[in-house]
Amino acid sequence: ISGLGDSMAHGKLLLAACLSVVLRISHGDIQYSVAEEMKRGFVVGNVAKDIGLDPNRLSLRKARLNTDDGGKRYFDINPSTGALTVSETVDREELCGSRMSCALKYELLLEKPLELHGVVVHVEDVNDNAPQFSNGEIALEIHESATKGTAFLLGEAHDADVGKNSVQRYVLQRNGHFSLRTGTNSDGAKYSELVLEKELDREQQREMTFTLTAFDDGAPQKSGTAVIRVTVLDANDNVPVFTQPTYRIDLAENSPVNTVIVAVSATDSDEGQNGEVVYEFSRVPDKIAEIFSLDRRSGEIKVVGPVDYEKQKSYELTVQAKDGLGLASNAKVIIDIIDVNDNAPVIEIQSLNDIIPENSAPGSEIGIIKVQDKDSGKNRQVHCSLSLNVPFKLNPSLKNYYSLITTDKLDREFVAAYNVTVTATDEGTPPLSSSMTIHVSVSDVNDNPPVFEEQSYSAYVSENNKPGSSVCSVTARDPDWRQNGTVFYSLLPSEVSGAPVSSFLSINGDTGVIHAVRSFDYEKFRSLKVQVVARDNGSPPLSSNVTVSIFISDENDNSPQILYPAPAGNTFMTEMVPKAALSGSLVSKVIAVDADSGQNAWLSYQIIKSTDPGLFTVGLHSGEIRALRDISESDSMKQNLVISVKDNGQTPLSATCTVSLLISDNLAEVPDLKDVSYEENNSKLTSYLIIALVSVSTFFLTFLILVLAVRFCRRRKPRLLFDGAVAIPSAYFPPNYAEVEGAGTLRSSYNYDTYLTTGSRTSDFKFVTSYNDNTLPADDTMKNCFFSLVY
Ligand SMILES: *[C@@H]1O[C@H](CO)[C@@H](O)[C@H](O)[C@H]1NC(C)=O
Ligand SMILES: *[C@@H]1O[C@H](CO)[C@@H](O)[C@H](O)[C@H]1NC(C)=O
Ligand SMILES: *[C@@H]1O[C@H](CO)[C@@H](O)[C@H](O)[C@H]1NC(C)=O
Repeated sequence: ISGLGDSMAHGKLLLAACLSVVLRISHGDIQYSVAEEMKRGFVVGNVAKDIGLDPNRLSLRKARLNTDDGGKRYFDINPSTGALTVSETVDREELCGSRMSCALKYELLLEKPLELHGVVVHVEDVNDNAPQFSNGEIALEIHESATKGTAFLLGEAHDADVGKNSVQRYVLQRNGHFSLRTGTNSDGAKYSELVLEKELDREQQREMTFTLTAFDDGAPQKSGTAVIRVTVLDANDNVPVFTQPTYRIDLAENSPVNTVIVAVSATDSDEGQNGEVVYEFSRVPDKIAEIFSLDRRSGEIKVVGPVDYEKQKSYELTVQAKDGLGLASNAKVIIDIIDVNDNAPVIEIQSLNDIIPENSAPGSEIGIIKVQDKDSGKNRQVHCSLSLNVPFKLNPSLKNYYSLITTDKLDREFVAAYNVTVTATDEGTPPLSSSMTIHVSVSDVNDNPPVFEEQSYSAYVSENNKPGSSVCSVTARDPDWRQNGTVFYSLLPSEVSGAPVSSFLSINGDTGVIHAVRSFDYEKFRSLKVQVVARDNGSPPLSSNVTVSIFISDENDNSPQILYPAPAGNTFMTEMVPKAALSGSLVSKVIAVDADSGQNAWLSYQIIKSTDPGLFTVGLHSGEIRALRDISESDSMKQNLVISVKDNGQTPLSATCTVSLLISDNLAEVPDLKDVSYEENNSKLTSYLIIALVSVSTFFLTFLILVLAVRFCRRRKPRLLFDGAVAIPSAYFPPNYAEVEGAGTLRSSYNYDTYLTTGSRTSDFKFVTSYNDNTLPADDTMKNCFFSLVY
């Protein structure tokens, strides 16, 4: 037993087959021989060594031994050592019958790269069978008239072994009449003939017996013996004679039962019963008798069992014809079976990565498929095709092997799985085909960033919202799988009027709902912008962002604020109305602002109480107090007006003020201002004391201011009182007041003088200040500095 490494010079042909798949075909097979009947596990040779591969790499390259024809596996390869071992005891005779050469073909398949080596194991014969005659007794009937030299066929002894181990010679027991002659058949089998050396005489000896022994040349030699019984016949008897010594017939496999294959015929020249011939199989194994039957009378051979080309390609039968006297002769019937396309191709998956990532490059190998057909000739020629419209193709590689590769880019979000149907069709008529569906799943790669449903989001929220209330929600979709498509939301850190955006808004990371963290005040800011980031959970993660604009809408949460006249308090204001004021002349003006905007800041003025209802009117939206008619002498000198200022909100808010008017041309002639201002003075004494004290200090202060004013405001001339210009100190404006155009509250072009009384009748003065306040955008309002002193 020797591993023949003679074909080690397997020139490896490198085929750069379609893109990335590199295939290697080995020329020439690795040959081994092994005797039949070896026990399981017997080592025939080392395949890894013989192809020059490190045995450690065998399992890495998924080495495996495939049978050439899908038949029984007698040998296998040890994946760790590369040893070729017997996996099933081989009986050469069962496997190869009388064929001289008994070779089993295998394919050694390696992957990465795909590589194929032919492995041929020759099974050597062992002399385990003795020559055997089909019958222990060979009966011969010979006429006494037979002449010297006539030969009688004895047939062959059979030895299942081949070559030297088959029948090599015959030895005849010494006897008085016959010698032995041997010859060789066309198929190489040795046969023997009995040759008559001395004439027979029926009267002397009617019957004689002697032995014939067949020997093979094996070691040890084996032999088989048969008894030859010769019956001497009367000269008048005749032997049946076949019309031809050998019948050769072609029979299609799978022929139906009862198909008549041939009718053998032998004639006998004897008359009557002696000439009636019957036919029988001689020396027919049971296996064959199950397939063919022979009609005793007609000599018809019929099919009675399955005829399978793939099992046996030809049969050789011996038919014996016997007449009534028992005289017999033999003929050979050779039946050649013709292949019919009765085997569909068989598709086998050799290896398969049925889950491939969607970013696999076109040309990536998914699997290796083997296709074979047991028929022969054209019936064995197979071609393969794939289902249409799949991004895969079959690349023929070696012999019956195909690699399944991708032809295009894959996109799991588009098609997540493919059913790839491989169809193999042979070239028989009619062709047979078989198909197999391979399920290929495309696995996810994080290749899609989350995408927001909208280009940008905007939301409106009323001021004074509850902290924690939801403002709006954003949604981003990511078609990737599981964590690669799980979206988390967050706010991009930024600042809104100097504070981190997180102190205004928060976002639910899972749902994308944005909440207000605090209550918003329209009067502080009217909108804010925030960037929301949607990030998936892949690694690395992908993200995208979107702008969310939040607009805060106004609520009527500020009541009008009256700037002039100042609300009742410590100070007290009185407007002087000249006695000669005519109807329609402007007497005073109520100035009010509202920190809200729009309708909520649209103010209207109304007199709700007055000393003389017919005398003054207030402009509904201007707040200007005008005389309704000419002032007459009879009008009361002191006129009080209670004016309400109301905004236009859904639930209007209002404020009221009292305007005190003094009809007089000269403050000096005002009788008792105190009555106008403080109606609830406690006692005259305290009043006088206070007045005296305040007068002195006021006079001093006034003097000081006068000196300063003369120095700094020289260009300004004192102006008349009641000229409609009222200076309003900045302190009266609410801190966040912003002017709203058209709101009807305050026009930047107005100049007002404030007439401010401190409670003293002698020291009233006009208090003036600059309006250069940055909360008031009007830049030309009352920057003027002027001063007037009133006694
Ligand atoms: C593939 O075939 C299986 C079973 O026949 C079926 O359940 C599945 O939906 C098919 N898939 C595709 C992508 O056609
Ligand atoms: C997500 O994508 C990555 C590659 O980007 C991949 O390795 C991983 O298997 C994917 N996860 C799932 C659940 O498909
Ligand atoms: C937001 O997205 C735009 C494009 O969509 C990108 O250019 C920008 O860098 C992103 N900003 C952040 C902070 O991720």
